[in-house]
Amino acid sequence: MRVAVTGAVGQLGSELVPRLGPRAISLGHDRIEITDDASVVSVLDDVRPTHIINCAAYNLVDRAEDEPEVAYRVNACGPRNLARWCAANQATLLHVSTDYVFGLETNSHVPWRETDRPGPVSAYGISKLAGEYFVRTNCPRHLIVRTCGLYGHNAARGKGNFIETMLRLGRERSELRIVDDQRCTPTSVTDLADTLVSLIESEAWGVYHATNSGDCSWFQLAAEIFRLSNISIGLIPSTAAEYGAKARRPDYSVLDCSKLTGVVGSPLPAWQDAVARYLHERESQ
Ligand SMILES: NC(=O)c1ccc[n+]([C@@H]2O[C@H](COP(=O)([O-])OP(=O)(O)OC[C@H]3O[C@@H](n4cnc5c(N)ncnc54)[C@H](OP(=O)(O)O)[C@@H]3O)[C@@H](O)[C@H]2O)c1
Repeated sequence: MRVAVTGAVGQLGSELVPRLGPRAISLGHDRIEITDDASVVSVLDDVRPTHIINCAAYNLVDRAEDEPEVAYRVNACGPRNLARWCAANQATLLHVSTDYVFGLETNSHVPWRETDRPGPVSAYGISKLAGEYFVRTNCPRHLIVRTCGLYGHNAARGKGNFIETMLRLGRERSELRIVDDQRCTPTSVTDLADTLVSLIESEAWGVYHATNSGDCSWFQLAAEIFRLSNISIGLIPSTAAEYGAKARRPDYSVLDCSKLTGVVGSPLPAWQDAVARYLHERESQ
């Protein structure tokens, strides 16, 4: 097994590469441009992977509202290029997608299953759903793994994530308003990376949901971060409307991961456990 990881220096990719050990072919943005078919073909023809895990993505959810064509190029045309190379070379493509393919249906508060009809509500979500369809249409040997609210230590050193943002605001402010009317499952890239490796080793294919277990609002996640970090701050529940982000997000995008559990044997750990481990590892770095 030779596994090319695109987006290899991002949050998730940088956790996957060490787990794969000598099987990994690390493809950062400096080595491959997934929107450019010529780059995809020449790099992959050179390294000849049997599997690709695509972690490369345009993840700026709010900015995507202003430049949807950029998001579409990276999140839809990029995976299409990878899928076509895989199909022509009998390789398997594991493509990482998002809970933001849901959101249009606002009455449902039951965890989403892989068979539920998606309905994105943002340019980012639409571009990711288009990427899923390109992968499904072009590459018979595919895995599409939808996940949610990723955080990892690599982003802590670079772009940041929700936990790092909360820790910074906890130092700067005495009071904070956090959205309490959107529910999902924040997910640790270390837990997700373990699962993705198990999944490609299992030779399963199709669409899977993969998040830590349980669910919470952003307000509840912030409260847990501050509790575990012994930061005392006035935390006030707020609404998405009050926060006024440029992109609309799902009110409820909890994913049912039981199909994945059936393949890898056990569910991912509870989100509270994953957050506690992240904070502990951060302290000891
Ligand atoms: N972050 C989340 O909360 C979240 C939630 C649900 C699903 N996901 C999905 O999970 C996957 C991994 O996310 P992540 O948080 O690890 O992302 P990330 O940290 O932003 O990493 C993405 C990587 O992709 C690279 N990249 C961007 N455009 C590229 C291109 N055109 N060609 C090649 N490489 C390119 C980036 O390099 P540069 O920075 O150098 O451009 C970056 O290293 C993505 O598919 C994402 O949509 C993420």
